[in-house]
Amino acid sequence: MRSPAAAAWRIYRGAPLPVRLHVLVRALTCPLGALLARFPAAGAALDVGCGHGLLAHLAARDPRRPRLFLAGIDHDAGKIRAARAVGGSRVRFWALPLEALPAAAFDFVSIVDVLYTVRREAWPGLLAGCRRVLRPGGVLLLKEVIDRPRWKHRAILLQETISVRLLGITRGDPPHFESPAGYAHALRQAGFSPFEGSPLASGHWISHYLILARRP
Ligand SMILES: C[S@@+](CC[C@H](N)C(=O)[O-])C[C@H]1O[C@@H](n2cnc3c(N)ncnc32)[C@H](O)[C@@H]1O
Repeated sequence: MRSPAAAAWRIYRGAPLPVRLHVLVRALTCPLGALLARFPAAGAALDVGCGHGLLAHLAARDPRRPRLFLAGIDHDAGKIRAARAVGGSRVRFWALPLEALPAAAFDFVSIVDVLYTVRREAWPGLLAGCRRVLRPGGVLLLKEVIDRPRWKHRAILLQETISVRLLGITRGDPPHFESPAGYAHALRQAGFSPFEGSPLASGHWISHYLILARRP
C-alpha cells in the first residue's frame, strides 16, 4: 500500500481543497499506518468519531483486507457528508449516535483522537457505547495523544485549543490530554480488558499512544 499521505491525497482528489488539505495534514501527523496494521483482516469494523472518514477509507481500500467492511460515525454531519462524497464500496458513514447502532454488531471498533475533545464526565457513556456495539471478544483500538513529555503536551494543547476553540475545525469540548494510565483506567471502568499499550513513533511534537482492549 502507498503511504497514508499519498493515499489520502488520491482518495480525496474530488473533495473540496480544504477537506483534501485537512486529511493530508492528518495523514502526515498521525501514525495511520501503525493503526491500520492493527485492523482485522475480515469482519465488520466501526470508526467512532471518524471525522472526514480518512481511517475508514484507507482501511476499506487496503488490499490486505479484502473482506473487511467499514463504517464510520460522527456527530458532525458536515464531516460525514464529506466522508460519504468520497465513495467506496466497502465503507459506510452515518451522522448517528452510537445508541442508534445495533448491539454486538462489530468485530472491531476504533476511536482515534476523540476522547480529548470530550469532557471527562462524558467518557463513560461514550466508552459504554463502544462496548455495546462490539461483539463479545471484539477489540477496541483507542489512540490518543498523551500528556507527556511536558513540552509536547504544551505544544499539542496550544494547537488543539486553536483548532477546537478558535477555528472550530473540531466540534467538541475544550481539549484535554491524559496519561496512558488514565486512558487504560477509563477503559477498565467501561468494562474493557486492555491488553496492549504502546507509544507510537512520531518524529514531531505529538506524543501518540495506542491502547488495544478486548470486550470480555
Ligand atoms: C480530532 S477529530 C478526529 C477525527 C478522526 N477520528 C481522525 O482521527 O482523523 C475528533 C472527531 O470526533 C468527533 N466527535 C467528538 N465527540 C463525538 C461524539 N460524542 N460522537 C461522535 N463523534 C464525536 C468530532 O466531530 C471530530 O470529528
